[in-house]
Amino acid sequence: MRLDRYLANMGCGSRSEVKRLIRSGKVTVNERPVKDESFQINPGIDLVICWGTEVVYRDYIYLMLNKPAGVISATEDSRERTVLDLIDPKYRRHGIFPVGRLDKDTEGLLVLTNDGQLAHQLLSPKKKVPKRYFAKVSGIIGAEDIEAFHNGIILDDGYRTMPAELKILQTGETNEVLVIIQEGKFHQIKRMFQALGKRVVYLKRLAMGELILDPNLKSGDYRELTEEEIEILSQAVKS
Ligand code: URA
Repeated sequence: MRLDRYLANMGCGSRSEVKRLIRSGKVTVNERPVKDESFQINPGIDLVICWGTEVVYRDYIYLMLNKPAGVISATEDSRERTVLDLIDPKYRRHGIFPVGRLDKDTEGLLVLTNDGQLAHQLLSPKKKVPKRYFAKVSGIIGAEDIEAFHNGIILDDGYRTMPAELKILQTGETNEVLVIIQEGKFHQIKRMFQALGKRVVYLKRLAMGELILDPNLKSGDYRELTEEEIEILSQAVKS
């Protein structure tokens, strides 16, 4: 792993801050100063010291799953198959969990990690991380629905949603739409359409912030996030 990524992951600062630290010679690896931020280290094996203090290794895992319908977004369940059942034990034993919930019948992008702080921030309504969905919706849909999403919709429990975006891709017996929401209330998109007298018949999450579901991932497949994608998620919660 790159030294700058290691230090940023261990909470020593943002990627640019740790780069500056490394270049200024404040970091040693196995007791030798290293000024190259791309220097490769073996986490948990090499001794990394920053400002005279050992940077103790904590193992973070970040996965992108293309969630299939029919599994629940939980870590365990006595009756239902969970998203964790789709994941190799070599990742599971690091205590990963899904970042937020997709309904059992919802498909698409689900991040799994053991980075509790990042997960918490990604889900915080204060951070307003946009989530983009593709949906198929039955009922007549038009400009007034776009307006309603924009203004916020009062759900069945009286909650008014934050402004959301609705884009109509195709109308017909079943309409195809894109929806962007900034929060994640229980069944939110289904309940937003329900409040407007329509029904979601298919739902798939395409993106979370700038993190886009890899189109090469088949339903049920997953892969580790790249360094760039982890950085994208970290940036999404900065502010
Ligand atoms: N909104 C929903 O209604 N369901 C999901 O799974 C995600 C968003």
